[in-house]
Amino acid sequence: MTERGPDFPASSGQERNALENIPETDSPMASRLDEEILRRRTFAIISHPDAGKTTLTEKFLLYGGAIHLAGSIKSRKAARYATSDWMEIERQRGISVTSSALQFDYKGFAVNLLDTPGHKDFSEDTYRTLEAADSVIMLLDGAKGIEPQTLKLFEVARLRNLPIVTFINKIDREGLPPLTLLSEIEKTLSIRALPMNWPIGMGRTFRGVFDLAGRKAHLYTSREHGGQRSAESVLDENDPGLNSLLEGIGLDQEFREELDLLTSDSDLWDPGLFRSGSVTPVFFGSALNNFGVELFLNAFLRLAPSPGPHTSDRGPIAPDTPQFSGFIFKIQANMDPQHRDRFAFLRICSGIFHKGMSVRNVNTGQEIKLSKTLQFLGQKREMVEEAYPGDIIGLHDPNIFHIGDTLAEKGDFLFEGIPHFSPEFFVRVQIEDPLKRKHLRKGLNQIAEEGAIQIFGLDPEGEREILVGAVGQLQFDVLKFRLEHEYKVRAKLEPLSYDRVRWVTGDSGKIAALANTLDTLLVYDREKMPVALFRNEWALRYVVEKYPGLAFHGTSPRTFRTSSADR
Ligand code: G4P
Repeated sequence: MTERGPDFPASSGQERNALENIPETDSPMASRLDEEILRRRTFAIISHPDAGKTTLTEKFLLYGGAIHLAGSIKSRKAARYATSDWMEIERQRGISVTSSALQFDYKGFAVNLLDTPGHKDFSEDTYRTLEAADSVIMLLDGAKGIEPQTLKLFEVARLRNLPIVTFINKIDREGLPPLTLLSEIEKTLSIRALPMNWPIGMGRTFRGVFDLAGRKAHLYTSREHGGQRSAESVLDENDPGLNSLLEGIGLDQEFREELDLLTSDSDLWDPGLFRSGSVTPVFFGSALNNFGVELFLNAFLRLAPSPGPHTSDRGPIAPDTPQFSGFIFKIQANMDPQHRDRFAFLRICSGIFHKGMSVRNVNTGQEIKLSKTLQFLGQKREMVEEAYPGDIIGLHDPNIFHIGDTLAEKGDFLFEGIPHFSPEFFVRVQIEDPLKRKHLRKGLNQIAEEGAIQIFGLDPEGEREILVGAVGQLQFDVLKFRLEHEYKVRAKLEPLSYDRVRWVTGDSGKIAALANTLDTLLVYDREKMPVALFRNEWALRYVVEKYPGLAFHGTSPRTFRTSSADR
């Protein structure tokens, strides 16, 4: 049985459809497709390192039956910074979860949890993952509130108006008061925070959570670091046992007062505002101890929408359109160090994927047979026989795919391209041997396609100097290493002191004038779009005020491009 939130019309069949020949809705294929769409939830967790993303992911897998023992997490720190969080789970657990998305079944839902690399491997790729999500979980550390990386990812989620559900973790430790956390979310993110449950105690006095809709206290006893599902007892709001428990931790009056306050707040719940990303439901708990995790997962899956329509240049493409379509949002090379393989990850937007099917890369016009296609199920990497909208499949990529490419069984529509996101670090790339320039270009282009870096040229053709931007410093170490080992190019990366970027649109004469502005550098991205780099906030503000006719964008404008500039 599929559980659904009461307020969310999960199917989007009513949307205008850009394709013809939609079969009768009562045909067996259409109803199977509808059922599969309804039960899918595709989401990412956004958080700052150490908030508990790995722990929460493990607990989800535990509940989903994908791993049987989410045992205590030992000695993870040492290797953590070298690799992605999920690779680390894989190493620790001896299971294969390295991927872009992890799929597991839970209470009738088909859950697709997207990987958002978060430590030093935080990169543009992390942002791009959100392009494939239908909703996000914002995970906060209850002692720290909103931290920088969460803020950046939140802003990207907001660009797409994704519904956001918040989990405030580590309530078993002394942290900020719950009301302070809610007001911090509201102030920092300009989003309405509506609590769905409320912690009973905090730190040493933490006993569980009170479910505000169900009016029940969920109390937990198991404290063995959550190796198993924790023991849970549920008490009614007026159960004398709850009163004595509250008295025991000295919270009786305070807790009841808070509940009164919150009850009136929950009347403000509006599913429309949640779906447009203006309101975030908030849950409290402890991932490590398994307190409130199952309650949260149940509620999240009911609240989160199933796959909806995707924008194309021919109008929205509804997921229940029978013909298969999707877009590439991530490319990853060298997943297996033994083979120089490359995988392109595709988010399915409509129809049913069948192994071996033929599709067209609409951006290039190339016909492709999708035979070597992987999906990542809880425990293993498997060949996919069939997949549905919301699912992520890995396509073997002999260098034929690019980020943003549309693959379709039928039709010549293009999905909206994936924008570039602001890098924060820049270097000038220099090579000792000018004859290696072509190799350098090839290496930079390929690495840029994977999302680790962005390339800019001082002229639209990129003939003159090449600058590289990245979201994290680690990307430059990776770049240098890969250029040397994979492309046999020894490059010198000279740091530049620009840290703010804006894509610029407007009058070309005015844009050209930016080249002569103090503390500002005018460059061009790979799509030949003008981009201004600024040395500091002051320079950015000066330019924005001086050129009111120009528009400055934090991400590259979305386009329906037919082909990449450097194909
Ligand atoms: P991340 O992926 O977001 O970076 O976080 P991760 O899950 O690795 O958790 C970071 C640290 O926070 C880990 O401790 C983890 O055990 C701890 N943690 C996660 N959830 C909770 C929680 O609900 N309560 C408490 N008290 N701690 C939590 P560590 O000491 O860095 O690692 P380890 O020695 O436990 O492996």
